[in-house]
Amino acid sequence: MGRSIISLNQNWLYNENFKDEYILNAHDNDGFESITLPHMNKEIPYNYFDEKMYQFISCYKKIFSVPKEHENKQIYIDFEGVMTYAEVYINGHYLGEHKGGYTPFSFNLTKYIQFGQENCLTVKVDSRERNDIPPFGFVIDYLTYGGIYREVSLRVVDSIHIDNIFAKPQQVLEDRKGLGVDVYLKHTSENPKKVLVKTTLTNKEGQKYGEAINEVEINGSEMKESLSLSDLEGIQLWDIDTPHLYDVRVEILENDQVIDCHETRVGFRSAEFTSKGFYLNGRRVKIRGLNRHQAFPYVGYAMPKRAQEKDAEILKNELHLNLVRTSHYPQSVHFLNRCDEIGLLVFEEIPGWQHIGDEAWKKVACDNVREMIERDWNHPSIILWGVRINESKDDHDFYVESNKIAHELDPTRQTGGVRCIRDSELLEDVYTMNDFIHGDQERALRPQQEVTGIKEDVPYMVTEYNGHMYPTKRFDQEERINEHVLRHVRVQNRAALDQSISGAIGWCAFDYNTHYEFGSGDRICYHGIMDMFRIPKFAAHVYSSQVSPEIEPILEPVTLWARGERDRCGVLPMTVLTNCDRIEVYHLGQKVGEYTPDRETYRGLEYPPVVIDELEVKQDWGSSWNDLLLLGYVGDKEVIRKEYAKNPIATELIAEVDDTELNSGDMDVTRILFKMVDQKGNIIPYINEILSLDIEGMGKIIGPKEMALIGGCIGVWIKTTGEVGTIKVKARCSRFEANEIKVDVR
Ligand code: GAL
Repeated sequence: MGRSIISLNQNWLYNENFKDEYILNAHDNDGFESITLPHMNKEIPYNYFDEKMYQFISCYKKIFSVPKEHENKQIYIDFEGVMTYAEVYINGHYLGEHKGGYTPFSFNLTKYIQFGQENCLTVKVDSRERNDIPPFGFVIDYLTYGGIYREVSLRVVDSIHIDNIFAKPQQVLEDRKGLGVDVYLKHTSENPKKVLVKTTLTNKEGQKYGEAINEVEINGSEMKESLSLSDLEGIQLWDIDTPHLYDVRVEILENDQVIDCHETRVGFRSAEFTSKGFYLNGRRVKIRGLNRHQAFPYVGYAMPKRAQEKDAEILKNELHLNLVRTSHYPQSVHFLNRCDEIGLLVFEEIPGWQHIGDEAWKKVACDNVREMIERDWNHPSIILWGVRINESKDDHDFYVESNKIAHELDPTRQTGGVRCIRDSELLEDVYTMNDFIHGDQERALRPQQEVTGIKEDVPYMVTEYNGHMYPTKRFDQEERINEHVLRHVRVQNRAALDQSISGAIGWCAFDYNTHYEFGSGDRICYHGIMDMFRIPKFAAHVYSSQVSPEIEPILEPVTLWARGERDRCGVLPMTVLTNCDRIEVYHLGQKVGEYTPDRETYRGLEYPPVVIDELEVKQDWGSSWNDLLLLGYVGDKEVIRKEYAKNPIATELIAEVDDTELNSGDMDVTRILFKMVDQKGNIIPYINEILSLDIEGMGKIIGPKEMALIGGCIGVWIKTTGEVGTIKVKARCSRFEANEIKVDVR
């Protein structure tokens, strides 16, 4: 017994236009196409498109029925995210509106539902950059796309039901821990009622750690009931390497019957920013992170669970980061859930970018603070709320209010507010600063007091660096790539050396679509250390190399090993991003050098790069050129090697898929990467051949079926159709056919 959640993601009707008559005319589907959520209102090309092309008002319709057996239930519709403004109607009745594309909203449909019959939900979606809704009002460096781009579901509950749960771990560093559970209840009938509210804490195997039961009289439509579990033994901490999670289950019982039940997950951890750095579970942890935009090629934000989860996995498991900032808005719950599961810390913030609007606009921003926190307060991965418009100027009253809302709702977390100005008024708990000084000066970061203007250290974190100061494409010239790498190395090194800096979060993880005022004019900002397909640039290995070689040995020389790539020819100085103790270099079968990491220049880094200044290989223009071999050692053991051909030849087109099994039902996706490699298996960066894709079975390609390799490789996402079966993808270019990719849809 309890509630039922019914997915409403499939079989929507969509029209790029909106007319008032669509609200009433459920069965006139002229001009409507059938679509599945998540959905972008208009697919866009990879680059050089007009960003106005998705900024329009569209219409989404969903015909659904609710069985008669639910007649005495309450029926809600839950939207996870609609960009940017939604007006919702059911069977011709207006339910309400929602401003802002990044936070969820719900409506109670009960009194308009025709049980056992068809109902028509109509959503007017305004995806224009409306000045009354953050982040809009001036220019912004990202695109927000459009449509019902996150999931929608129906929630069928009893007249007394749980609206939300806030589970607050207590005494987490003690052997016997506690858990406070605030249960937010709703009651839709007038009559006072007595019920029991019961909460249990278990691990995922179902082992019970504690239980509490309160007797509650519900009188009125809303109330909060606080339960407390104490003396909890055997609970393991949630930490970066050991992200233990527990389930909190809340039940409402009436006459021994469970009339509603809702669950959340919780992790026991302490997290505190201090003037001496950041402490997780009482241990100082230097934050090493990147900013993430939730954008993907062709469909913008409209990617389902698996793609969201994969991003978290890339950040944690490929780049070995310990934190992500969800710049500049609340991101998918799937992404955050995965961060909880894999131990990736999160700094989450409200939507905004430099501009502050009028009072009504600020009210929407304050609503965003509330909606963000109420949605996400149970994620142990989230350690800081961003309650300022990114890089906005000081605004005393506005930010007193946003901090107050955050602190009242969630007394367990600190607030930050990202600024780029010095001497800014510190109303938050942490001075979070975008420090781009390394663009103009040699020094990598400023000491905090120079930035804050405060005569003592305060909790301080660098929330952006590099980005627009040094945009770099994956296929840029090697010297630029090398400098791009070194800028990331220098800032991370500086942040590590300064104990008063909690850590540094680089701009940014992935290239992203933007307006023509930014980026390369082609609607892409090439600020990522990975491209939009999440294919690494060399700078990605600045981060991926900061992990024990026992977990993953890394050896990534920043070179194409080609005579004529750099100015004046040659390959030196060569930066080698590695976590090995030492590397050996072989040329023509002879050892020509042995090198160790540059611990003097980069004292702060656990695994500093090797910098090769001299190599016993003739460097002049016109001298001969040969194969190269690098070996990486940990102790006396060779753990990794890297070979280069003197004469790279396109040898093979390789296809690699992230997942070989997908789920039927709601839309599922996976990514295929295509790489053109030479005889040594290295990606060839200057090959731009046309790739044609063929897909068979229960899948579709997202985006075009024909594309050019970009710098020797490209990615594509395929999506399921909802049906069970197999998907086969074949790719060919003029010279090769790639290995066939086969995916089972279960
Ligand atoms: C910052 C901004 C980011 C991005 C970055 C590029 O000013 O907060 O959103 O535009 O610059 O370096």
